[in-house]
Amino acid sequence: MTSRVEIMAEIIYLNGQLIPRSKAKLSPFDHGFLYGYGLFETMRAYNGHIFRFDHHLARLRHSAQSLGLTHSILNVVEGKQSLETACMETLEANKLKDARLRLTVSAGEGDMTPDPSTCPSPTVLITARNLIPLPPEKYESGFKAALSPLRRNSQSPLSRLKSTCYMENILARMAARAAGCDEAILLNEQGYLAEGSTTNIFLASNGELITPSLESGVLPGITREAVLEIARASNIKTLERQVELKELIEAEEAFVTNSILELMPLTWFEGKPIGTGKPGQLTKELLAAYRKLVDEALQ
Ligand SMILES: Cc1ncc(COP(=O)(O)O)c(C=O)c1O
Repeated sequence: MTSRVEIMAEIIYLNGQLIPRSKAKLSPFDHGFLYGYGLFETMRAYNGHIFRFDHHLARLRHSAQSLGLTHSILNVVEGKQSLETACMETLEANKLKDARLRLTVSAGEGDMTPDPSTCPSPTVLITARNLIPLPPEKYESGFKAALSPLRRNSQSPLSRLKSTCYMENILARMAARAAGCDEAILLNEQGYLAEGSTTNIFLASNGELITPSLESGVLPGITREAVLEIARASNIKTLERQVELKELIEAEEAFVTNSILELMPLTWFEGKPIGTGKPGQLTKELLAAYRKLVDEALQ
């Protein structure tokens, strides 16, 4: 019998070294810990290949720049070769092929004041675990989502960053889970649709694929970007714009995306079915095309 439990790998990469996780030491004055001053990427490895590593690194680099991190964090994220090698070595050290991989970069150790200029050298951490995807039945029934009372702030830089300040996402997700749902959907401060707690959202209506624009206050998801590329290459009309909540309620189909889930049909929202309450045709086609894209990237 195969175990369905994902196990945190024993070997981690910390500041240039592969070490057993039991030997890892992080400073109590790390500004990532004290102030949430850090960024991370969650990536999926398929058969030892990290899907779109370049895109993840580009997002990390862009995020660091937009935070004004001109000191050593930026130097670390500039070093593609070493970071990619470090990720691959972490996978290999743990004999992992299909994995969830996390790269975390924080400001590192500094003064006990929220001043990152006191942090001379960043913390770079890579952790991995085996990945057991959700079973096919889940993709056949789809996710149920609840509307979160929390709002994304489209004016806050944090909305567009994968920062280690993840508390809002956690709270939204916990509330959705407590309500028996798989995901929470957040609106922005203007009441337009933003994203899920750990996902981007797409709707389909009249053959058009619609997703909230980045200006709506959403993370520029790597999977979101791939789905838009696939749809455009198939001549499906795609729209990135402000999206009204009622468009989700009235959509024919909806799905959410992230690097681990790929595309997950969203079939229920606030206790009511979306469309037929089953995964829609376009959603299924895009999921198949996404998986083909992943397979091609492995060649
Ligand atoms: C808030 C949020 N939006 C969207 C996503 C999807 O991003 P990606 O496709 O890059 O995994 C994530 C990923 O965890 C997320 O945390």
